[in-house]
Amino acid sequence: MDLEQVYRDKRVLVIGGLGFIGSNLAQRLVKLGAQVLIIDSLVPDHGGNVYNIANVRDRVSVNVSDVRDQHAINFLVRGQHYIFNLAGQVSHIGSMEDPLTDNDINARSQVYLLEACRRHNPRARVVYTSTRQFYGVPQYLPVDEAHPVQPTDVNGITKWAGEQYHMVYHRAYGIPTTALRLTNVYGPRQVLKDAEGRMGVIYHFVRKVLAGEKLRVFGSGEQLRDYVYVDDVVAALLTAGAHDRALGEVFNVGGLRPISHLQLVQHLLAAAGLPDDWFDMAPFPPERKAIDVGSVYLDSTKIGRALGWTPTTDLAAGLERTFAYCKEHKDAYWDAELVATLQEGSLQVENG
Ligand SMILES: NC(=O)c1ccc[n+]([C@@H]2O[C@H](COP(=O)([O-])OP(=O)(O)OC[C@H]3O[C@@H](n4cnc5c(N)ncnc54)[C@H](O)[C@@H]3O)[C@@H](O)[C@H]2O)c1
Repeated sequence: MDLEQVYRDKRVLVIGGLGFIGSNLAQRLVKLGAQVLIIDSLVPDHGGNVYNIANVRDRVSVNVSDVRDQHAINFLVRGQHYIFNLAGQVSHIGSMEDPLTDNDINARSQVYLLEACRRHNPRARVVYTSTRQFYGVPQYLPVDEAHPVQPTDVNGITKWAGEQYHMVYHRAYGIPTTALRLTNVYGPRQVLKDAEGRMGVIYHFVRKVLAGEKLRVFGSGEQLRDYVYVDDVVAALLTAGAHDRALGEVFNVGGLRPISHLQLVQHLLAAAGLPDDWFDMAPFPPERKAIDVGSVYLDSTKIGRALGWTPTTDLAAGLERTFAYCKEHKDAYWDAELVATLQEGSLQVENG
């Protein structure tokens, strides 16, 4: 599939495009010659960061608006050929502390978007970033798309609802939607200002290693996870948008192979040039234990067979690139208050 042929000169909306995955997608779309419009509300505590698109700032349009604003969404979907729908409340712990906001963004707002498509642009291709999180504690491994859904947190419920709205709008109204259930994603432009580890293990570990602080592994460290490099996820999103075979389908997007938390720690320490015993072990804090799913990794056979996508980036190579980026651009990501101030200073946005 020649992605340049598919996306060149097409109008592409990236919702959540100032965030980690969205901005990497926007960068790639610019390279492919697409006309990119980003919507992002830059909600605090998430990955939205104007710096993420600094090197393509003059080649993308940015509209700082919120997916909870139905009227704005009605307006912004018009005329778009492709819509990549990535905006979300992404913190699992955050979803337990503030379940209604999580529901508003991840579930209710998805209906705004799909209604906007139905009424104003029913032919736009919509690709939604879903999550493996709602499979819950796996009943078997690797987890395929037929695995029962049993969320362990509110975020799992709302992401499942968001995904299923996309499927219902395809079946009921023929809106051309696809959902990708992502495993843990890592890579350049990921959030680093999260000192508390609320955004997930890999962000937290990368931050700690960069700060030269010892890592802390909860539990036995034997839980298995798969990690997928952001460029591979971008390739999966673009491939899903390009294929009619993807319409009305959900696909797992997993990593190359599962590894344990302890192995992940070894990879991180090696990539950062730190000694291999630069970590300690501790029991799970209760709020994490309550929503932990144990070992989980995905079976991505379905997307491989249907669309020809497989992950290609080896963890060691991916982490090396991640650290190189994080070190070079650390100041733009490190301190939450500073990041917010920089946003205000650099935010010369235009409406669409
Ligand atoms: N990163 C992962 O490991 C992972 C795994 C599974 C699924 N996902 C999904 O992928 C998507 C992107 O995640 P990410 O890691 O890039 O997170 P991120 O926080 O870096 O990006 C999300 C973006 O959405 C924006 N946003 C949040 N609420 C908004 C709202 N109400 N209106 C407009 N914009 C809003 C944020 O400002 C941010 O820029 C999310 O939907 C997430 O659930 C991510």
